Amino acid sequence: MKPAAESNSDPATNTLPDDAAGSSPLLARIEALLSQMTLEEKIGQLTQVSGNQAQTGPLSLASADRDGLRSGRVGSMLNVLGAHYTRAHQEEAMQSRLKIPLLFAHDVIHGYLTTFPVPLAEAASFDLQAIEKSARVAATEAAAAGIHWTFAPMVDVTRDPRWGRVTEGAGEDPYLAAQIAAARVKGLQGRQRGDTDAVLATAKHFAGYGATVGGREYDSVDMSLRQLWETHLPPFKAARDAGAATFMNAFNDLNGVPATGNRYLLRDILKGAWGFEGVVVSDWASIGEMVSHGHAADTRQAAELALNAGTDIDMESSAYRKHLPALVAEGRVSLALVDDAVRRVLRLKFELGLFEDPYRFSDPAREKALLGHASHRHAAREMAARSIVLLKNGTRAGRPVLPLDPALKTIAYIGPLVKAHKDHHGAWAVTLPEVDCEKFIVSPWDGLRQRLNGHTQLLYAQGCDVEGSRRDGIAEAVAAASAANLVIACVGESAAMSGEARSRSRIGLPGVQDDLLQALQTTGKPLVVLVNAGRPLIINSVAACADALLYTWWLGSEAGHAMADVLSGDHNPAARLPMSFPRHEGQIPVYYNHFSTGRPRQASVEVPWAGGYIDVETTPAYAFGHGLSYTQFAYADLQLDRPRMHADESLTVTLQLTNTGPVAGDEVVQLYLRDRVGSVVRPVMELKGFQRVHLQPGESRELRFAITRESLAFYNDSLQCVAEPGWFDVMVGASSADIRLRGSFELMD
Ligand code: NOJ
Repeated sequence: MKPAAESNSDPATNTLPDDAAGSSPLLARIEALLSQMTLEEKIGQLTQVSGNQAQTGPLSLASADRDGLRSGRVGSMLNVLGAHYTRAHQEEAMQSRLKIPLLFAHDVIHGYLTTFPVPLAEAASFDLQAIEKSARVAATEAAAAGIHWTFAPMVDVTRDPRWGRVTEGAGEDPYLAAQIAAARVKGLQGRQRGDTDAVLATAKHFAGYGATVGGREYDSVDMSLRQLWETHLPPFKAARDAGAATFMNAFNDLNGVPATGNRYLLRDILKGAWGFEGVVVSDWASIGEMVSHGHAADTRQAAELALNAGTDIDMESSAYRKHLPALVAEGRVSLALVDDAVRRVLRLKFELGLFEDPYRFSDPAREKALLGHASHRHAAREMAARSIVLLKNGTRAGRPVLPLDPALKTIAYIGPLVKAHKDHHGAWAVTLPEVDCEKFIVSPWDGLRQRLNGHTQLLYAQGCDVEGSRRDGIAEAVAAASAANLVIACVGESAAMSGEARSRSRIGLPGVQDDLLQALQTTGKPLVVLVNAGRPLIINSVAACADALLYTWWLGSEAGHAMADVLSGDHNPAARLPMSFPRHEGQIPVYYNHFSTGRPRQASVEVPWAGGYIDVETTPAYAFGHGLSYTQFAYADLQLDRPRMHADESLTVTLQLTNTGPVAGDEVVQLYLRDRVGSVVRPVMELKGFQRVHLQPGESRELRFAITRESLAFYNDSLQCVAEPGWFDVMVGASSADIRLRGSFELMD
């Protein structure tokens, strides 16, 4: 592999720069502590084990190692939840010789007790402020429960909806994903390190995991370095620039070298070119798994490869604990590298103020006061409503089907997810044993029933299960539909069908839910369909029989309220798809920002000798950035303040946006660029700016977008980030497939 750009630290190892040692009171304290530590205690700081309040991987013998806590052989733990338990474990660590406090980590992915929409759904909001706020709330609750560190955000760019983990990221676009990565890091980490309403963030999985072959979990990744730099690294760089305290590496190999032992990624890029001074944690047991990869002969060699490559903490492999002492003694791993890793860990502990008070985050009173706080639920409801995507809104009797007509007498609410609670949490929810999900998560049924408040009668039938082939409930559902003026169907996956290790080869509606919808359609009643899922599903037949279609993902604690807000029109939907929705699994990967080709893809299958397929259109069912509203917006008067620019200048694009419809609403205005000619082939279009704008009916606003060198630059064949002179097309619109205004400018030499 080619080296990354030059390093700003020790060129041989990319360890922390020399002036890190002793040049500030903090660093002097680190050095003083380090000088007292035995090698075993140092390795303890690099060892992370799981507690047993949650299970997020196959448990190993190291788990919940109490002796290790007392003897300083464990530096951090994951899966220890709650002020009580974190305190109890910290008390054990305080019995160790040097009383070095533990760090408690957990996968707080979209909320702690109060859950927000799954990250992919939040990405659909295109609302950076709301996303930051969601992360802030998650951090506030988690920190009150004694958690110092979350393994979030996942910033992998994802283009294959078969991969269950797309639910955890921000979708297919590197620009959007980078903006969201920064917002999430800021929200999680709060104002300053050490605040007790903030947690350390982790940018994961470094790197390339989003491109796992075939969308299969734990599989390999083989890609050009140019694709790595251009598509997959930008969100990581944004997370680093936003101050992410830690990075997690990945289960995959990247071009043959497991990410966990990948010097190029960790030492050359992250700790070198990017000057990252934080901590790199392995993924669960991923050091040991380099043996299964066939990259290391045994865990001893795996430990050597991982530490030398730049993985600071061993999560759940016990490889460092078992083998680093001998590896250091034999000179296969230098003490300097071990010290560098330990310094990074100690620094975080000092910065969090844990040496002053190891229990400062484990505060039962704060935990009781803050978890599930009304203001948090309010934010969750708002975020959930902002994440719902309106995909279709047909008319009946000359009136749009949504929002619901308040004069409706009877609505039949049908489907296997109408009365579900827990599913609406989605994947990666923190499940606290003492919480009654039935009470804590608002089901679609409860949400709508409360909103209708008895004014409209609500009928219910389950119709069928999410999975399985039983059709015996369909007749009852049809009867309920026939007795109503309008039907709402709530269908989709179960929550357990997306997330880690939840890859699917067929991503249509599971079970007989399609049959249920067809049967409901035969009643002739207006049919509104809500699709709940953690990933883009193939929903052609759903769209064909639905009069109106809302993609509601997994929305978290306030799911039912948010759905009712949108159905009733209290909230006008504005979210946009952060991933293209395929028409067929055979099209995958389908993403909007693909390269230009010699024989461009044609939308129709009829065009001879054109790129694409002969049996399915090349376009997605729904394009990146697509989403409708209950109002309409007009785009006009695109102006560029200059026809040409130099790379050190900025060009301003302005346009006029008007809400021409009947109600107030938000529009997500998207700016795309196309570099007409490049030394390497450029994408057909790339998102380079967006704004979510609220306008009253009839209101107009001038919007401004700045184009700078950064918007124009890309990685050339030598992996240099260049902006090449020439012509660029500017496209502004409501989605990648709905461009309303066009312009162009020239970048001068
Ligand atoms: C494995 C997952 O890949 C990672 O994202 C997660 O943070 C760890 N398990 C810890 O639960």
